[in-house]
Formats: sequence, structure tokens, C-alpha cells
Amino acid sequence: MTSDPHPIHPSHTPTGVLRLGVFFQGVNSSTVWRLPESGDQVAWDSFSRIITTAQRGLFSAFFLGEGLRLREHRGVPLESDVAGRPDAQTLLAALAGITENIGLVATQNTTYNDPVDLARRLQSLDLISGGRAAWNVVTTDNAWTGENFRRGGYLDHADRYTHAEAAVEIARQVWRGEEIEHVGAHYTVRATGRLPRSPQGEPVVFQAGVSPEGRDFAARTADVVFSPFGDRERAIEFRRDLVERTLAAGRDAQAVQIMPGAELVLAETDAEAEEKVRWLRTQQIGPRQALDLLEQYWGRDLSAFDPDGPLPDVDPEVVVSGVTRGAGFQFEKAKELTDAWRAEAAAKGLSILEFARSRQGSRGGTHVGSYDTVADELAELVRLGAVDGLNITPWLVPGGIDDIVDHLVPRLQDRGVYPSAYAGPTLRENLGLPPLA
Ligand SMILES: Cc1cc2nc3c(=O)[nH]c(=O)nc-3n(C[C@H](O)[C@H](O)[C@H](O)COP(=O)(O)O)c2cc1C
Repeated sequence: MTSDPHPIHPSHTPTGVLRLGVFFQGVNSSTVWRLPESGDQVAWDSFSRIITTAQRGLFSAFFLGEGLRLREHRGVPLESDVAGRPDAQTLLAALAGITENIGLVATQNTTYNDPVDLARRLQSLDLISGGRAAWNVVTTDNAWTGENFRRGGYLDHADRYTHAEAAVEIARQVWRGEEIEHVGAHYTVRATGRLPRSPQGEPVVFQAGVSPEGRDFAARTADVVFSPFGDRERAIEFRRDLVERTLAAGRDAQAVQIMPGAELVLAETDAEAEEKVRWLRTQQIGPRQALDLLEQYWGRDLSAFDPDGPLPDVDPEVVVSGVTRGAGFQFEKAKELTDAWRAEAAAKGLSILEFARSRQGSRGGTHVGSYDTVADELAELVRLGAVDGLNITPWLVPGGIDDIVDHLVPRLQDRGVYPSAYAGPTLRENLGLPPLA
């Protein structure tokens, strides 16, 4: 279905179809692991139940993130991180065997993986799944992770994307069975792709990382961007910017789809959903997690501060890499950021605990409301062309998408913005991407 040319950018036409993905994050501060109905974040049952439910709801894709080193604070894993994540490709290969249509997206970084080996493994997943594999290309933002690897934390921000672009180019050459002679700044490769092509040709390429370099990289190379901009205003702004960059890269305005991350809190009525989100925040963030969050930015021990009191009246420790490790945080901006937070909390009269809860769920965008309210909101976003889909992080595992599949999907179908069947066996088809030449 195609709607009118839209007001966001004159060259871009909205697809008018919402594609859903589910992002099984594992380590994070948004999934509640302590309820009686909470599962186990490394148990097979958690993965198999979520992906089976998602497929029942005609989701396009099941995503796994990648965390190669558990984040720590003062020598102890972050309260929010629970435990490490199993390897994405191992899990997806097993999940391919119990599913038929849903896409299998592996987040894999280009900074520490070697492209020929990675490409061959992704292509293998694509073959055994009948053309359902995708690579979510990330660069991974911390030297802390790098310490796990022989080459160490060796790439600064701009270099990471030069490296990523070479890695994707080499991977595509492997997939296309080309002879590769790559001599680059970071590595030299001589190889020839030897596997046959899958029913979708080759894995779909997602990209996650939204700095200017990350956006240009996506504009040149990606099929889909997994963005952190889910609320209306930022989604529109991001679409406009990405279309500009995609056109500048010589590609069609429609070439790159956008799926922001999202948290959905749904109920029969708006009032019940508002009540539910207040309860959810108390489950996600307790006094210990609230202090933990601030300590990641302050970079120092804040255990002497009362979670029910105001934000700490001390300055952060501004260092390149301090006691808080791997938080993905811009340490040099610590002072600016913590000053802004203190001002915000003071203006709103929020305690440490209340402030931490108020920040929860804010990054990708949270949709709170009755099934009908949220269906209307999402239908509008996709008709406008602000997004092509959503990548939902369930706040409960493994039952966290049951209400979406049972109550939201039918309402999206009623509004004509959601598929009524899988378009075909491959991910490329189910994302509405053009077939490869
Ligand atoms: C929505 C989203 C999801 C991401 N998921 C992962 C992940 O699972 N593993 C990882 O190492 N990095 C992940 N990243 C981080 C990227 O690897 C990247 O390092 C980071 O966004 C910094 O790049 P940038 O400056 O271009 O934004 C994610 C980023 C975004 C925006």
C-alpha cells in the first residue's frame, strides 16, 4: 500500500505499512526480571516463546543485541545488566529451526569481528533459514569492550565507521561470491566467497548508530536503520535528515527504512495504561538502580546519598575512563550533563529515585495508552512516513508481547497499516524491500 507523497520530505513516499520487530535485549534496565511471571534471560524457553509469539503476530523480525563485555561499576556488574548475553548467531541458528517466516537479526560489531568470517557465518544463517537473516551493523562504542580482544580498544569514533564501511563492503563481496583483494587502513583481505546465494540473495543490512558519521554510513550502505528516535517529533526530524543523506549518497529516498526502538505499555483504557506505566517504573528502577544510574554518569561512589533526596550536590569525576566502565558514556560531557540533570530535577522537584524513573523508557520512545489510542498513534506515524516500523523491547520476558499480538496487531490491521499475512518466506519480502538484482 502506498499513501500520498508526504510532508516530511518531497522526495519521500511513505510505505503506509508498519513492520514490527522484537528486540530481545538481555542485559538492560528496562526488562523486569523479578516478577513471578518473569522468565530467565538465558533460558531457551524465553527466546523460543517470544519468537513464536512474534511470528504468530506476523512480526517481520526478531533481533538479538550484542554485548561482548558486561558493564561494570566499581568492579561489580551493573545492577541493570543481570548477566551476559549468549551469542546471537548461535541462538538464531537454533531459532531458525522452530520458525518459518520471521526474520533473524544478529547485532554484530565491525570493530572486533573480522569481516570474511562474520560474512560467512551470517550467510550460513541466511541459507539454513531460507533467506531470513540480517546483520545489524554496530560499531560498539567503548574501549572497555575492546579490552576483551587481541587488538584492544584501538579505534576512535571516526575510524570505527571507516572500518565498518570496509567490513560491510567486504561482507557483500563474500556474499556475492566475488574475489576480494582488499588493502585498507585497518586490514588486508584476500578471499573468495564460496557459498551459494539464499532465496533472498544475501542477508539484509540493518545499522544502529546515529552520529553524523553513523547516519552517512547508513545512507550509503544500509537497508534499514534501527534508530533511537521513536517519538513523533524526533522521528520526523530523523527521517528528513536521513532522506537528505540518502539522496546525497546517490540512492533513492525510499532506499533506507527506519525502525526505532520502542517500549509499549498497553491496557484496555488510557487510564489503566497510565497506572500501569507508573507501576512499571517502580519495578524497573528501585533505590539501588537509581543510584547506579547516576553513578554511571557521576563516575563516583554516591552510596552516601539518599535516593529520596535531591540529586547529588557534588560534581562528577571527569575522566576518559574511570571507575564506571563500558557505560557507553561520553565522559568529557559529564559536567555539562549532570549540571543539566540537577537543574531539571530541582525545577521539577524530583528526588533521585523519581528522576531516575522519569528517565526510564525515554530513549527510543514509549507508547502508553489503550490498544486503540496506541494503534491510532502508530498508524499516524507510519502514514506520515516518520517510521517504517518499530523494534519493540518487551519489558517482560517471555510474556511481554502477548498483549501486542492479541490486542494491538488486530487493531493495526483494522486501520489498514499492518500486514494480514507474511508476504513471502524471506525477510527482504516481509520488510517490503526491493529484490536484489
Ligand atoms: C538502537 C541502537 C541499538 C544498539 N545496539 C547495540 C548492541 O546491541 N550492541 C552494541 O555493541 N552496540 C549497539 N549500539 C551502539 C552502536 O554500536 C554505536 O556504538 C553507538 O550507537 C555509537 O555510534 P554513534 O556514535 O554513531 O551513535 C546500538 C545503537 C543504537 C542506536
